[in-house]
Amino acid sequence: MFDVYKIRKDFPMLSDDKIEQGHKLVYFDNAATTFKPYSVIKASDEYYLNETANAHRGDYDLAYKVDTKVDVVRDKVAKFINAKKEEIVFTSGTSMSINLIAFGYGIKYLKEDDEILLTEAEHASNVLPWFKVKEVTGAKINYIPLDKDGRLTVENIKKAITKKTKIVAIAQITNVLAFKADIKEIAKVCHEYGALLMVDGAQSVPHMKVDVKDLDCDFLSFSGHKLCGPTGIGILYGKYDLLKKTDPFMSGGGNNARFDMCGNVAFLQPPEKFEAGTQNLAGIYGLGAAIDYLNNLGMDNIENYEKELRKYAISKLKTLQNLIIYNENAEGSIITINVKDVFAQDEASFLNSKGICVRSGEHCAKILHEFLKTVATVRISFYFYNTKEEVDYLYETLKEGGNFLDAYFN
Ligand code: ALA
Repeated sequence: MFDVYKIRKDFPMLSDDKIEQGHKLVYFDNAATTFKPYSVIKASDEYYLNETANAHRGDYDLAYKVDTKVDVVRDKVAKFINAKKEEIVFTSGTSMSINLIAFGYGIKYLKEDDEILLTEAEHASNVLPWFKVKEVTGAKINYIPLDKDGRLTVENIKKAITKKTKIVAIAQITNVLAFKADIKEIAKVCHEYGALLMVDGAQSVPHMKVDVKDLDCDFLSFSGHKLCGPTGIGILYGKYDLLKKTDPFMSGGGNNARFDMCGNVAFLQPPEKFEAGTQNLAGIYGLGAAIDYLNNLGMDNIENYEKELRKYAISKLKTLQNLIIYNENAEGSIITINVKDVFAQDEASFLNSKGICVRSGEHCAKILHEFLKTVATVRISFYFYNTKEEVDYLYETLKEGGNFLDAYFN
Protein backbone atom coordinates (compact mmCIF):
# COMPACT_ATOMS: atom_id res chain seq x y z
CA MET A 1 0.00 0.00 0.00
CA PHE A 2 1.19 3.53 -0.78
CA ASP A 3 1.54 5.10 2.67
CA VAL A 4 2.58 8.72 2.16
CA TYR A 5 3.12 9.31 5.89
CA LYS A 6 5.52 6.39 6.10
CA ILE A 7 7.26 7.54 2.92
CA ARG A 8 7.76 11.05 4.33
CA LYS A 9 9.89 9.61 7.14
CA ASP A 10 12.50 8.66 4.52
CA PHE A 11 13.18 12.33 3.72
CA PRO A 12 15.20 14.57 6.05
CA MET A 13 13.76 17.67 4.37
CA LEU A 14 10.27 16.54 5.38
CA SER A 15 11.01 16.27 9.09
CA ASP A 16 8.98 18.39 11.51
CA ASP A 17 11.96 20.53 12.44
CA LYS A 18 12.07 22.15 9.00
CA ILE A 19 10.53 25.53 9.67
CA GLU A 20 10.27 28.42 7.19
CA GLN A 21 9.16 31.85 8.32
CA GLY A 22 7.83 30.36 11.53
CA HIS A 23 5.72 27.78 9.68
CA LYS A 24 6.22 24.12 8.89
CA LEU A 25 7.90 23.87 5.49
CA VAL A 26 5.54 22.92 2.65
CA TYR A 27 7.45 22.19 -0.52
CA PHE A 28 5.55 22.53 -3.79
CA ASP A 29 8.47 23.23 -6.14
CA ASN A 30 9.17 19.68 -7.19
CA ALA A 31 9.29 20.54 -10.89
CA ALA A 32 12.42 22.54 -10.05
CA THR A 33 14.04 19.89 -7.88
CA THR A 34 13.01 17.16 -5.46
CA PHE A 35 13.97 16.18 -1.93
CA LYS A 36 16.31 13.23 -1.39
CA PRO A 37 15.63 10.19 0.80
CA TYR A 38 18.29 9.07 3.30
CA SER A 39 19.17 6.13 1.06
CA VAL A 40 20.27 8.48 -1.74
CA ILE A 41 22.30 10.69 0.60
CA LYS A 42 23.88 7.58 2.11
CA ALA A 43 24.77 6.19 -1.33
CA SER A 44 26.50 9.42 -2.38
CA ASP A 45 28.25 9.57 0.99
CA GLU A 46 29.41 6.00 0.50
CA TYR A 47 31.45 7.16 -2.47
CA TYR A 48 33.16 9.87 -0.40
CA LEU A 49 33.46 7.90 2.83
CA ASN A 50 34.49 4.45 1.63
CA GLU A 51 34.89 4.18 -2.12
CA THR A 52 36.72 7.26 -3.40
CA ALA A 53 38.70 6.54 -6.54
CA ASN A 54 38.40 7.51 -10.18
CA ALA A 55 36.50 5.25 -12.56
CA HIS A 56 37.90 3.45 -15.59
CA ARG A 57 41.48 4.53 -14.85
CA GLY A 58 42.85 2.63 -11.88
CA ASP A 59 44.43 -0.82 -11.72
CA TYR A 60 43.57 -1.50 -8.11
CA ASP A 61 40.63 -3.03 -6.26
CA LEU A 62 39.24 0.25 -4.97
CA ALA A 63 39.04 1.73 -8.47
CA TYR A 64 37.56 -1.52 -9.72
CA LYS A 65 34.77 -1.19 -7.13
CA VAL A 66 33.90 2.23 -8.55
CA ASP A 67 34.03 0.92 -12.15
CA THR A 68 31.64 -1.85 -11.17
CA LYS A 69 29.26 0.57 -9.45
CA VAL A 70 29.14 2.85 -12.50
CA ASP A 71 28.35 -0.16 -14.62
CA VAL A 72 25.65 -1.39 -12.23
CA VAL A 73 23.97 2.03 -12.10
CA ARG A 74 24.09 2.35 -15.91
CA ASP A 75 22.33 -0.98 -16.10
CA LYS A 76 19.75 0.11 -13.50
CA VAL A 77 18.99 3.27 -15.48
CA ALA A 78 18.72 1.25 -18.69
CA LYS A 79 16.21 -1.15 -17.11
CA PHE A 80 14.29 1.77 -15.59
CA ILE A 81 13.44 3.08 -19.10
CA ASN A 82 13.71 -0.25 -20.94
CA ALA A 83 16.86 0.63 -22.87
CA LYS A 84 20.13 -1.20 -23.40
CA LYS A 85 23.03 -0.39 -21.11
CA GLU A 86 25.16 0.95 -23.96
CA GLU A 87 22.40 3.42 -24.87
CA ILE A 88 22.70 5.23 -21.52
CA VAL A 89 25.06 8.22 -21.34
CA PHE A 90 25.79 9.94 -18.03
CA THR A 91 25.56 13.71 -18.33
CA SER A 92 25.19 16.55 -15.84
CA GLY A 93 21.44 16.78 -16.44
CA THR A 94 18.73 17.34 -19.03
CA SER A 95 20.32 20.54 -20.36
CA MET A 96 23.62 18.84 -21.11
CA SER A 97 21.85 15.87 -22.67
CA ILE A 98 19.93 18.05 -25.13
CA ASN A 99 23.00 20.17 -25.87
CA LEU A 100 24.94 17.00 -26.59
CA ILE A 101 22.49 16.03 -29.32
CA ALA A 102 22.17 19.57 -30.69
CA PHE A 103 25.94 19.99 -30.97
CA GLY A 104 26.97 16.40 -31.68
CA TYR A 105 24.19 15.45 -34.09
CA GLY A 106 22.34 18.64 -35.12
CA ILE A 107 25.38 20.66 -36.08
CA LYS A 108 27.01 17.67 -37.76
CA TYR A 109 24.11 16.60 -39.97
CA LEU A 110 21.66 19.47 -40.48
CA LYS A 111 21.94 21.67 -43.56
CA GLU A 112 20.54 24.96 -44.71
CA ASP A 113 16.78 24.72 -45.23
CA ASP A 114 16.43 21.62 -43.06
CA GLU A 115 13.80 22.15 -40.39
CA ILE A 116 13.71 21.67 -36.63
CA LEU A 117 10.29 21.55 -34.97
CA LEU A 118 9.75 22.80 -31.43
CA THR A 119 6.76 24.15 -29.52
CA GLU A 120 6.22 27.41 -27.68
CA ALA A 121 5.87 25.44 -24.45
CA GLU A 122 9.47 24.16 -24.37
CA HIS A 123 11.89 24.92 -21.56
CA ALA A 124 14.92 27.07 -22.50
CA SER A 125 17.12 23.98 -22.49
CA ASN A 126 15.06 22.54 -25.34
CA VAL A 127 15.05 25.78 -27.35
CA LEU A 128 18.41 27.53 -27.01
CA PRO A 129 20.61 24.60 -28.16
CA TRP A 130 18.50 24.43 -31.34
CA PHE A 131 18.98 28.16 -31.89
CA LYS A 132 22.70 27.37 -32.01
CA VAL A 133 22.11 24.63 -34.58
CA LYS A 134 20.14 27.13 -36.66
CA GLU A 135 22.92 29.73 -36.37
CA VAL A 136 25.68 27.32 -37.40
CA THR A 137 23.90 25.28 -40.08
CA GLY A 138 21.29 27.67 -41.50
CA ALA A 139 18.51 25.21 -40.63
CA LYS A 140 15.10 26.70 -39.87
CA ILE A 141 13.19 26.48 -36.63
CA ASN A 142 9.42 26.18 -36.83
CA TYR A 143 6.95 25.93 -33.97
CA ILE A 144 4.20 23.34 -33.93
CA PRO A 145 1.03 25.24 -33.01
CA LEU A 146 -0.43 24.39 -29.61
CA ASP A 147 -4.18 23.93 -29.24
CA LYS A 148 -6.20 26.60 -27.44
CA ASP A 149 -5.28 25.18 -24.00
CA GLY A 150 -1.57 24.90 -24.76
CA ARG A 151 -1.53 21.21 -25.56
CA LEU A 152 0.56 19.61 -28.30
CA THR A 153 -1.63 17.37 -30.46
CA VAL A 154 -0.68 14.73 -33.01
CA GLU A 155 -2.93 16.53 -35.55
CA ASN A 156 -0.90 19.70 -35.18
CA ILE A 157 2.39 17.86 -35.61
CA LYS A 158 1.00 16.40 -38.83
CA LYS A 159 0.22 19.93 -40.01
CA ALA A 160 3.69 21.28 -39.17
CA ILE A 161 6.01 18.44 -40.24
CA THR A 162 7.44 18.31 -43.77
CA LYS A 163 9.99 16.24 -45.65
CA LYS A 164 12.54 18.87 -44.66
CA THR A 165 12.00 18.26 -40.93
CA LYS A 166 15.04 16.52 -39.51
CA ILE A 167 14.53 16.90 -35.78
CA VAL A 168 11.42 17.27 -33.62
CA ALA A 169 12.35 18.28 -30.05
CA ILE A 170 9.53 18.29 -27.51
CA ALA A 171 8.82 17.66 -23.85
CA GLN A 172 6.81 14.58 -22.91
CA ILE A 173 5.29 16.68 -20.11
CA THR A 174 5.84 20.42 -20.31
CA ASN A 175 7.23 22.26 -17.30
CA VAL A 176 4.57 24.96 -16.92
CA LEU A 177 1.29 23.58 -18.26
CA ALA A 178 2.19 19.92 -17.70
CA PHE A 179 0.27 18.59 -20.69
CA LYS A 180 1.41 15.15 -21.73
CA ALA A 181 2.31 14.62 -25.39
CA ASP A 182 1.42 11.34 -27.08
CA ILE A 183 5.04 10.45 -27.77
CA LYS A 184 4.28 7.06 -29.29
CA GLU A 185 2.01 8.51 -31.98
CA ILE A 186 4.31 11.50 -32.49
CA ALA A 187 7.28 9.17 -33.01
CA LYS A 188 5.34 7.35 -35.75
CA VAL A 189 4.65 10.63 -37.54
CA CYS A 190 8.28 11.77 -37.20
CA HIS A 191 9.61 8.51 -38.59
CA GLU A 192 7.17 8.56 -41.54
CA TYR A 193 8.79 11.84 -42.50
CA GLY A 194 12.35 10.68 -41.78
CA ALA A 195 12.72 13.01 -38.78
CA LEU A 196 14.26 12.11 -35.42
CA LEU A 197 12.37 12.64 -32.17
CA MET A 198 14.24 14.11 -29.19
CA VAL A 199 12.14 13.91 -26.02
CA ASP A 200 12.73 16.13 -23.00
CA GLY A 201 11.73 13.79 -20.19
CA ALA A 202 12.71 16.07 -17.28
CA GLN A 203 9.11 16.42 -16.08
CA SER A 204 7.84 12.98 -17.10
CA VAL A 205 10.43 10.34 -16.16
CA PRO A 206 10.24 11.15 -12.40
CA HIS A 207 6.46 10.75 -12.36
CA MET A 208 5.46 7.85 -14.61
CA LYS A 209 6.71 4.69 -16.26
CA VAL A 210 8.62 5.58 -19.43
CA ASP A 211 9.54 2.83 -21.86
CA VAL A 212 11.73 4.06 -24.69
CA LYS A 213 11.29 0.94 -26.77
CA ASP A 214 7.52 1.19 -26.60
CA LEU A 215 7.58 4.94 -27.34
CA ASP A 216 10.19 4.45 -30.09
CA CYS A 217 11.67 7.91 -29.45
CA ASP A 218 15.19 8.42 -30.78
CA PHE A 219 16.61 10.37 -27.83
CA LEU A 220 15.37 10.97 -24.28
CA SER A 221 16.90 13.25 -21.66
CA PHE A 222 16.22 13.53 -17.94
CA SER A 223 17.81 14.71 -14.69
CA GLY A 224 18.66 12.83 -11.52
CA HIS A 225 17.74 15.64 -9.15
CA LYS A 226 14.12 15.74 -10.29
CA LEU A 227 13.64 12.09 -9.31
CA CYS A 228 15.06 12.17 -5.76
CA GLY A 229 18.65 11.82 -6.99
CA PRO A 230 21.60 14.17 -6.58
CA THR A 231 22.11 17.35 -8.58
CA GLY A 232 24.69 17.34 -11.37
CA ILE A 233 23.85 13.92 -12.75
CA GLY A 234 21.52 13.23 -15.65
CA ILE A 235 20.91 10.88 -18.51
CA LEU A 236 20.88 10.93 -22.26
CA TYR A 237 19.28 7.89 -23.85
CA GLY A 238 19.85 7.42 -27.57
CA LYS A 239 19.25 4.56 -29.99
CA TYR A 240 22.64 2.94 -30.33
CA ASP A 241 23.10 3.46 -34.08
CA LEU A 242 22.28 7.16 -33.62
CA LEU A 243 24.71 7.52 -30.72
CA LYS A 244 27.36 5.96 -32.93
CA LYS A 245 26.73 8.65 -35.56
CA THR A 246 26.78 11.47 -32.97
CA ASP A 247 29.99 13.37 -32.25
CA PRO A 248 31.08 13.86 -28.65
CA PHE A 249 30.07 17.23 -27.29
CA MET A 250 33.33 17.39 -25.37
CA SER A 251 36.55 15.42 -25.53
CA GLY A 252 39.31 14.54 -23.10
CA GLY A 253 40.41 11.75 -20.82
CA GLY A 254 38.27 8.66 -20.86
CA ASN A 255 36.52 9.07 -24.22
CA ASN A 256 39.27 8.01 -26.63
CA ALA A 257 41.30 4.89 -27.36
CA ARG A 258 44.29 6.78 -28.78
CA PHE A 259 45.36 9.94 -30.58
CA ASP A 260 48.53 11.11 -32.29
CA MET A 261 50.45 14.32 -32.91
CA CYS A 262 48.74 14.86 -36.25
CA GLY A 263 45.35 15.13 -34.59
CA ASN A 264 44.04 11.69 -35.45
CA VAL A 265 41.73 10.49 -32.70
CA ALA A 266 40.08 7.13 -32.22
CA PHE A 267 37.10 7.65 -29.97
CA LEU A 268 35.70 4.90 -27.79
CA GLN A 269 32.28 3.50 -28.61
CA PRO A 270 29.14 4.97 -26.99
CA PRO A 271 28.46 5.60 -24.19
CA GLU A 272 32.09 6.18 -23.11
CA LYS A 273 32.66 8.33 -26.23
CA PHE A 274 30.48 11.00 -24.59
CA GLU A 275 31.89 10.77 -21.07
CA ALA A 276 35.16 12.70 -21.22
CA GLY A 277 36.63 13.83 -17.92
CA THR A 278 35.95 12.52 -14.45
CA GLN A 279 32.26 11.81 -14.06
CA ASN A 280 30.08 12.86 -11.15
CA LEU A 281 30.72 9.57 -9.38
CA ALA A 282 29.01 10.43 -6.09
CA GLY A 283 26.09 11.54 -8.27
CA ILE A 284 26.05 8.21 -10.06
CA TYR A 285 26.03 6.35 -6.72
CA GLY A 286 23.12 8.51 -5.55
CA LEU A 287 21.23 8.13 -8.83
CA GLY A 288 21.38 4.36 -8.48
CA ALA A 289 19.85 4.61 -5.01
CA ALA A 290 17.16 7.02 -6.28
CA ILE A 291 16.12 4.57 -8.98
CA ASP A 292 15.98 1.77 -6.42
CA TYR A 293 13.83 3.98 -4.22
CA LEU A 294 11.37 4.78 -7.03
CA ASN A 295 11.25 1.16 -8.20
CA ASN A 296 10.45 0.12 -4.67
CA LEU A 297 7.51 2.50 -4.54
CA GLY A 298 6.45 1.54 -8.07
CA MET A 299 6.14 4.10 -10.86
CA ASP A 300 2.46 3.26 -11.40
CA ASN A 301 1.76 3.85 -7.70
CA ILE A 302 3.60 7.16 -7.88
CA GLU A 303 1.63 8.25 -10.95
CA ASN A 304 -1.71 7.22 -9.47
CA TYR A 305 -1.03 8.90 -6.13
CA GLU A 306 0.00 12.17 -7.78
CA LYS A 307 -3.03 12.11 -10.08
CA GLU A 308 -5.31 11.71 -7.08
CA LEU A 309 -3.55 14.50 -5.19
CA ARG A 310 -3.76 16.84 -8.19
CA LYS A 311 -7.44 16.06 -8.67
CA TYR A 312 -8.05 16.87 -5.02
CA ALA A 313 -6.08 20.13 -5.29
CA ILE A 314 -7.93 21.20 -8.45
CA SER A 315 -11.31 20.52 -6.84
CA LYS A 316 -10.39 22.80 -3.94
CA LEU A 317 -8.59 25.55 -5.86
CA LYS A 318 -11.45 25.77 -8.39
CA THR A 319 -13.71 27.06 -5.66
CA LEU A 320 -11.55 30.16 -5.20
CA GLN A 321 -13.15 32.82 -7.36
CA ASN A 322 -10.03 34.99 -7.50
CA LEU A 323 -7.84 32.27 -8.98
CA ILE A 324 -6.95 31.73 -12.63
CA ILE A 325 -5.97 28.10 -13.26
CA TYR A 326 -4.11 27.73 -16.56
CA ASN A 327 -4.01 23.95 -16.79
CA GLU A 328 -6.98 22.40 -15.04
CA ASN A 329 -6.94 19.28 -17.22
CA ALA A 330 -3.21 18.61 -17.44
CA GLU A 331 -1.85 15.12 -16.84
CA GLY A 332 1.36 16.20 -15.06
CA SER A 333 1.70 17.00 -11.36
CA ILE A 334 1.82 20.76 -11.88
CA ILE A 335 -0.89 23.36 -11.32
CA THR A 336 -0.15 26.78 -12.75
CA ILE A 337 -2.14 29.71 -11.46
CA ASN A 338 -2.39 33.41 -10.89
CA VAL A 339 -4.38 35.25 -8.29
CA LYS A 340 -6.38 37.87 -10.18
CA ASP A 341 -4.72 41.30 -10.13
CA VAL A 342 -1.78 40.03 -8.08
CA PHE A 343 1.68 39.82 -9.59
CA ALA A 344 2.96 36.22 -9.50
CA GLN A 345 6.13 37.03 -7.55
CA ASP A 346 4.12 38.89 -4.91
CA GLU A 347 1.86 35.87 -4.46
CA ALA A 348 4.88 33.56 -4.22
CA SER A 349 6.44 35.87 -1.60
CA PHE A 350 3.21 35.80 0.35
CA LEU A 351 3.12 32.00 0.21
CA ASN A 352 6.77 31.96 1.30
CA SER A 353 5.86 34.05 4.34
CA LYS A 354 3.59 31.14 5.32
CA GLY A 355 6.26 28.49 4.72
CA ILE A 356 5.01 27.39 1.28
CA CYS A 357 7.61 27.05 -1.50
CA VAL A 358 6.39 27.56 -5.08
CA ARG A 359 8.07 28.93 -8.17
CA SER A 360 6.85 32.11 -9.85
CA GLY A 361 7.87 33.86 -13.06
CA GLU A 362 8.34 32.36 -16.52
CA HIS A 363 9.83 29.04 -15.33
CA CYS A 364 12.46 29.16 -18.13
CA ALA A 365 9.67 28.75 -20.73
CA LYS A 366 9.92 32.30 -21.93
CA ILE A 367 7.95 31.99 -25.16
CA LEU A 368 4.98 30.32 -23.50
CA HIS A 369 3.98 33.37 -21.50
CA GLU A 370 3.13 35.21 -24.72
CA PHE A 371 0.77 32.35 -25.48
CA LEU A 372 -0.69 32.57 -21.96
CA LYS A 373 -0.97 36.35 -22.31
CA THR A 374 0.63 36.99 -18.96
CA VAL A 375 4.14 37.97 -17.91
CA ALA A 376 4.39 35.50 -15.06
CA THR A 377 2.59 32.66 -13.30
CA VAL A 378 2.76 30.83 -9.99
CA ARG A 379 3.65 27.16 -10.36
CA ILE A 380 2.64 24.59 -7.76
CA SER A 381 4.33 21.26 -8.42
CA PHE A 382 3.77 18.04 -6.47
CA TYR A 383 5.71 14.88 -5.84
CA PHE A 384 4.61 11.61 -4.28
CA TYR A 385 5.49 12.79 -0.75
CA ASN A 386 3.07 15.72 -0.75
CA THR A 387 -0.18 15.28 1.16
CA LYS A 388 -3.81 16.39 1.06
CA GLU A 389 -3.20 18.24 4.36
CA GLU A 390 -0.52 20.30 2.63
CA VAL A 391 -2.97 21.02 -0.19
CA ASP A 392 -5.58 22.11 2.38
CA TYR A 393 -3.04 24.48 3.91
CA LEU A 394 -2.21 25.89 0.46
CA TYR A 395 -5.91 26.40 -0.22
CA GLU A 396 -6.48 28.26 3.05
CA THR A 397 -3.37 30.37 2.50
CA LEU A 398 -4.30 31.24 -1.10
CA LYS A 399 -7.74 32.23 0.08
CA GLU A 400 -6.24 34.56 2.63
CA GLY A 401 -3.41 35.67 0.29
CA GLY A 402 -5.79 36.62 -2.47
CA ASN A 403 -7.77 38.78 -0.12
CA PHE A 404 -4.69 40.23 1.49
CA LEU A 405 -3.03 41.18 -1.78
CA ASP A 406 -6.21 42.40 -3.45
CA ALA A 407 -6.73 44.65 -0.47
CA TYR A 408 -3.12 45.77 -0.68
CA PHE A 409 -3.33 46.69 -4.36
CA ASN A 410 -6.81 48.25 -4.44
N1 ALA B 1 13.68 22.99 -15.13
C1 ALA B 1 13.32 23.32 -13.81
C2 ALA B 1 11.99 24.01 -13.74
O1 ALA B 1 11.21 23.97 -14.63
C3 ALA B 1 14.38 24.06 -13.12
O2 ALA B 1 11.74 24.64 -12.73
